[in-house]
Amino acid sequence: EVTRSYDPAYMNTVACISKISYIDGDKGVLEYRGYPIEQLAEHSTFLETAFLVIFGELPNAQQLKKFSKKVMTNSTYHDGLDKFIKAFRHDSHPMGMMSTLMAAMSTFYPEANPAYVGANIYKGKQERNKHIYRILGAAPTIAAACYRHRIGLPLNHANQDLGYVENFLYMMDKHITDDDYKPHPKITRALEILFILHAEHELNCSTAAIRHMASSQSDVYTSLAGAVTALYGPRHGGANEAVLRMLEQIGSKDKIPQFIEDVKNKKKMLMGFGHRVYRSYDPRATIVKRTAEEVFSLVGKEPLVEIAMELEKIALTDEYFIKRKLYPNVDFYSGVIYKALGIPTEFFTVLFAVPRIAGWLAHWTEFLDDPENKIVRPRQIYKGYRTRDYVPIEKRE
Ligand code: CMC
Repeated sequence: EVTRSYDPAYMNTVACISKISYIDGDKGVLEYRGYPIEQLAEHSTFLETAFLVIFGELPNAQQLKKFSKKVMTNSTYHDGLDKFIKAFRHDSHPMGMMSTLMAAMSTFYPEANPAYVGANIYKGKQERNKHIYRILGAAPTIAAACYRHRIGLPLNHANQDLGYVENFLYMMDKHITDDDYKPHPKITRALEILFILHAEHELNCSTAAIRHMASSQSDVYTSLAGAVTALYGPRHGGANEAVLRMLEQIGSKDKIPQFIEDVKNKKKMLMGFGHRVYRSYDPRATIVKRTAEEVFSLVGKEPLVEIAMELEKIALTDEYFIKRKLYPNVDFYSGVIYKALGIPTEFFTVLFAVPRIAGWLAHWTEFLDDPENKIVRPRQIYKGYRTRDYVPIEKRE
């Protein structure tokens, strides 16, 4: 007899064996492929971290050079996508645009579709890598195009001589210095750190989603569109946008006690707090907070950070949050940085999605290599009616 357990939010379900990232939720530890997040944030670049996350080892100098070249030469996107971008309303949410555009990519690359070509198309590493380079390369360009479309600017071309994050800021026309017409190196580094912190986070909702979709052998582009969609929600990556809106709604420090009361009475959520796995301070949040200070020293302080810090102080000493082990997560301070950098609030979650593509692709390829890989298909407990006879419409009440 089969025994099944009811676990609706998968609180206790282990769905895969993975070698990509390690979290100790009680101690607040996060490692990518064994490397502590703190060390990567200090020494690595986003592309190096992406290589590590996807291929399992830090690249040597030659591997990194080749990888960067392959990614950067893919920093264009198919012409057809322009028509999609131009068709969006100017106030379209960029995450809606991103997920649509990712799905649209699948229609431009039918050779990536197991439905046409057969499930074996992803068996060869070379074939798989082709999509990995293309997606990593195109993602910032697509994201920047969404940003520019929303503010009425023409679409911009990538500058492949720049670094990955540098080029992203360049395409968005953000923080370009007069000297060399490149983004400010310290701002670039701050965003690079944020990209590293967001690159991967084991089996979160969107990563579980991409494994779920890959399990039915959907193509990689459509699967990524699904992951972007899962990230969009405010319980997940959308929390960075929600935090900023919450801080704006609170508006001033004197309104914080009432807000906390509302949270404790379950009328509101303290966005940017809590986590399924961390029962202590999210190690990414510590680095984000430090990065915020560096950014403020360059571009001026974002006043909302005062409200955020006061909220944190009150929450960390309040019985409600202590009892439930609720601490700031990665999204709590990232929004104030983006705001200080002049990035529109709607765009924040895109700044989570672009780097997270590394983690999604890593899980996609790990899933494909898993000999146990089968279609993901949870079971249910049925509590509805059992067999009854059809009632003709004239006899229904
Ligand atoms: N504000 C107020 N109460 C909270 C919060 C919060 N942010 N988070 C959890 N709780 C309460 C929750 O109501 C529950 O209380 P009770 O025991 O009285 O029913 C208790 O804490 C346990 O929470 P839970 O809902 O069982 O926790 P979960 O693991 O299902 O949810 C979460 C985790 C992240 C979805 C949730 O904490 C949340 O919605 N936080 C706000 C949104 C957010 O910041 N999300 C970003 C997560 S980190 C980055 C990412 O994944 O993208």
